[in-house]
Amino acid sequence: METTMNEEVVAMPRIGDKAPVFKAKTTQGDINFPSDYHGKWVILFSHPADFTPVCTSEFMTFATLEEKFAKANTQLVGLSIDGLYSHIAWLRTIKDKIEFKGMKNVDVKFPLIEDITMNVAKKYGMIMPNESSTQAVRAVFFIDPKGMIRAIIYYPLSLGRNFDELYRVIVALQTADEFAVATPADWKPGDDVIISPAGSCGVAKDRMDGNIEGLDCKDWFFCTKKLDKDMVLDKVLKKEKEPVLA
Ligand code: BEZ
Repeated sequence: METTMNEEVVAMPRIGDKAPVFKAKTTQGDINFPSDYHGKWVILFSHPADFTPVCTSEFMTFATLEEKFAKANTQLVGLSIDGLYSHIAWLRTIKDKIEFKGMKNVDVKFPLIEDITMNVAKKYGMIMPNESSTQAVRAVFFIDPKGMIRAIIYYPLSLGRNFDELYRVIVALQTADEFAVATPADWKPGDDVIISPAGSCGVAKDRMDGNIEGLDCKDWFFCTKKLDKDMVLDKVLKKEKEPVLA
């Protein structure tokens, strides 16, 4: 890869890293990130610019789903490289004038970070200079209640996000934590889950001999089990919020 003297090298946070810390102004007041959200899951997402159509459709969708994410103990936090007054004016316009797919009069109540200095966008690797050096791409960081980055999805400027998938990721991550399982392709609550690969020849043999109740093993490394949809939903959506230890 060729680099020039002017090219800035940006460390991009990765899955398993602690979420980079920052303070910021938002449409809901100042925030300290991620400490203000300790104990909650957070979806930190960037969009290219205020007053743009794809972003507007996304904000209306996020705002409409905010309650659904809140029930899964998940806080939404948005960001673009725009100032606070632009954010405020855009959100007012959305509420007053924009109708999209039956959504109208939409109030965006989650915080939208002003990042005119690109401080946060740079820390989170949201600027992809070959896509745009002045606008953030559509990044989505899934951050757990202890402030660890657990999943990241990037979309280009032209592509609006799939919100069913963002919600599925939150539910699947929480399910993996709660039940110590993995979730296969296209998993949704009620589908079978994957148990961790056998870590020894003895366990592999036990699994293939059918000695472990409740497992369906197609081969020693590919075992699934049933996980009741209500059990998943009880844990993810209705569980008592236990205090999270640092
Ligand atoms: C949009 O949100 O509509 C958009 C933003 C930047 C580039 C292309 C589309």
